[in-house]
Amino acid sequence: MKKYLVTSALPYANGPIHLGHLAGAYLPADIYTRHLKLLGEKVIHISGSDEHGVAIMLNAKKEGKNYKSYVDYWHSEHKKVFDKFNVNFDFFGQTSESYHAEEVIKWFDELYKKELIEPNDNQQLHCKACDNHLPDRFVEGTCYKCGYTQARGDECPNCGIWIDPVKLIEPVCKICGSNDIEEITVTQWYLKLSKCHEKYRAWFESKKNTWRKTVYPFVDSLTRESLHDRAITRDLDWGIDVPLPEAAGKKLYVWFDAPIGYVSNTKQYLEKIGSDEDYLKDWWKNDDTEIIHFLAKDNIIFHAVIFPVMGMESGRINPPTDIPANQYLNLEGKQFSKSTGWYIDIDSAFEQFGADAIRYYLISILPEQSDSSFTWRDFAAKINGELANNIGNLINRCLKFAYKNWETGLDAKYLTGFSETEIGKKFKTAILEHKSIVDGKEFKKGIEQIMSMGQMANTFFSDLAPWAQFKADPNEAEKTIALTSIQIMTLGVLLSPYVPGLSKKILSYFDIALTDTHRKKIYSGELEVFDELFANGMKITEAPKALVPKIDEKIISKLEEDLRGKAEELDNV
Ligand code: 2FM
Ligand code: ZN
Repeated sequence: MKKYLVTSALPYANGPIHLGHLAGAYLPADIYTRHLKLLGEKVIHISGSDEHGVAIMLNAKKEGKNYKSYVDYWHSEHKKVFDKFNVNFDFFGQTSESYHAEEVIKWFDELYKKELIEPNDNQQLHCKACDNHLPDRFVEGTCYKCGYTQARGDECPNCGIWIDPVKLIEPVCKICGSNDIEEITVTQWYLKLSKCHEKYRAWFESKKNTWRKTVYPFVDSLTRESLHDRAITRDLDWGIDVPLPEAAGKKLYVWFDAPIGYVSNTKQYLEKIGSDEDYLKDWWKNDDTEIIHFLAKDNIIFHAVIFPVMGMESGRINPPTDIPANQYLNLEGKQFSKSTGWYIDIDSAFEQFGADAIRYYLISILPEQSDSSFTWRDFAAKINGELANNIGNLINRCLKFAYKNWETGLDAKYLTGFSETEIGKKFKTAILEHKSIVDGKEFKKGIEQIMSMGQMANTFFSDLAPWAQFKADPNEAEKTIALTSIQIMTLGVLLSPYVPGLSKKILSYFDIALTDTHRKKIYSGELEVFDELFANGMKITEAPKALVPKIDEKIISKLEEDLRGKAEELDNV
């Protein structure tokens, strides 16, 4: 039986989650998982906190906290945000836990046995001013390939190449700001990616026609000629110990252990639910499992190159099926940045507008093909013009009318036969199209498709004008309301991966509870199910009140002002 392992990039337990993170990985992964679950597929969504690395160490130190309590704090903060926004995981673990280290060591041992991990003397940058080693993101300088002036010690965010930090032009220490930097020689252990090039390319090239156009060509150009060995050990005091006596005191590089978190967390999940399935044989090494990594573009290399090589060569897991990476979400055209005040406080956005409005807007601007921008004006325009007008208004009007005029319920004779009607057929076609759009992981297009079904329902309702029909022939009006109610219930089910709160609310107006089988049928376009569902009629349980509240322009102007004010204030400090 086909299975799906959906993963979303483990967020660093090192500061708040922002809307860009939600749009980059978690929301798409959540929608996709909900989509598959609705279809009755066997799927698990795995993520967790990424809790190692120098950035975490430095911040914990700055706050005077020990590393473990620092990461535990952020782990629980992130969980709260995901809960608020209805982003569900089957398991959300922690890489600082011992179960994770156990799994990581197994990978290391396998790769070591195959002589794919070897020591090498390595030139490293060292800051003379603050006496720190400067790996990864702790040094910045000019990229030796593209000339971008803020390339980091691990990667150039502009051209995407892996950076050899000692080659950076005019390096600056990110810890103390000094440019008094020297090169020193240290032994580190390397993952011998260069030995894996041919095998890697044979696998990678099989993805040419299925991976996103923003992912495949990028990885192709970086790996066509060769793969470079990468140091996977560091001189730190927080992380997983390198399991070699000669490497005593060294830790594994955070990017070696983090993606293995998907696997260790799956093991924990299966144990937690008391499953008798094996996390490797039945899931990660099962040829019937699709492995899909959701992430933003800065994580592509690790998931499309290093982790697949580690998986294939260690023999522990299969390489991924797809990596639907997103581009970046900006805020009013500029990158989100906590330090410059250019960000939206996610908790207050939630308090003010609720999860569904934020989810809806983020989905409608998902950066699937190119960077996109969150703007408060556009947010209000989309919520008011689309979600409130197209969906909220229709439901308010139709169900209020039903509640008021058919207090004891709508007759079954008007509620059956929907699938044979012209609108029922149109709905079926649109649902099937929607399914194939979401199967293709195009969620922005998916919600657009549902909005166009909302338009169809609105046109159906307005053209028949049940309020006028009611005066001339109440039976005709009852039929219109019955058929519109079915369209509303269908929209309620289709909306559930995107705006689960709103979907639940919509479905709660009906006195008929849907089972998973009913939902699956509706979601797959088997609309004959309504004949069975409404065989004894149907009643609207309450009159909806402002189902999707409109957003006041004044609130938006104030939010824009606040954002600019905060940024200017910090600019002047
Ligand atoms: O960029 C990040 O936020 C990383 N913590 C993502 C890690 S993804 C995976 F490898 F765990
Ligand atoms: Zn320094």
